[in-house]
Amino acid sequence: MKEKVLIVGAGPGDPELITLKGKKAIEEADVIVYAGSLVNREILKYNRRNAKIYNSATMDLEEIVEIMVEGVKKGLNVVRLHSGDPSIYGAIKEQIDELRKHGIDVEIIPGVTSLSAAASSLKVELTLPKVSQTVIITRPEGRTPKPKGESIKELSRHGSTMAIFLGVGMIEKVVSDLIEGGYRRDTPVAVVYKASWKDEKIVKGTLEDIVPKVKEANIRRSALIIVGDVLDPKNYDYSKLYDKNFETGFRKRKK
Ligand SMILES: C[S@@+](CC[C@H](N)C(=O)[O-])C[C@H]1O[C@@H](n2cnc3c(N)ncnc32)[C@H](O)[C@@H]1O
Repeated sequence: MKEKVLIVGAGPGDPELITLKGKKAIEEADVIVYAGSLVNREILKYNRRNAKIYNSATMDLEEIVEIMVEGVKKGLNVVRLHSGDPSIYGAIKEQIDELRKHGIDVEIIPGVTSLSAAASSLKVELTLPKVSQTVIITRPEGRTPKPKGESIKELSRHGSTMAIFLGVGMIEKVVSDLIEGGYRRDTPVAVVYKASWKDEKIVKGTLEDIVPKVKEANIRRSALIIVGDVLDPKNYDYSKLYDKNFETGFRKRKK
């Protein structure tokens, strides 16, 4: 399979948060199918070839695949642009499988996920020694069912950092599941709307008071819910990596 589509991670919104490789792919594209609900249109301005642009938000899978196949068969550079990193809730597997039926392969160029952008905006480390060394990426069950054992309630028993995508529209349910699952009511939580965009909003609170704050801010979509003590740690350990009494493969212990 020589013919291919480039699946590109557009990053979280700020047009400068795309990889150099992703930007180059957009510059050289003849056809771009972009996920219009969350890809910043500013990124399309990098294109230098007057590409034909399609917004996949208004299309179904069949239509998306048809446009990509048609472009590739004409020998054009086809880019499929997804928000953040395509591997996270990107619905790319089905596109890859459908393209393969036409003998077309893909190359995937990763992107900066909105989770990284939100953590940067919050100026937090998601994995703090003694607080949490685990980040759970999940979503509430909606029309897409979740496999057994993956409900927010069940995942909550770990008490680790949790990032909830696609969930702000049902924040009451998310918060009650988090509490029922085991998080303390005073666990810090942040909701980041359109991280890295010019109209980004951040709402901070605890599981006790976040719901009215989010309603007040009128955030209903395009936001991440991040929960865990890493957001406001009372006590944590410095890492061993830079501890002068600790030796690593790159650094000897000081005598
Ligand atoms: C279909 S998923 C795509 C996620 C994307 N692949 C990523 O890596 O960020 C869409 C959801 O991602 C989250 N999201 C995407 N971009 C965001 C941003 N800039 N700020 C906050 N949340 C964002 C929201 O929860 C949104 O409902």
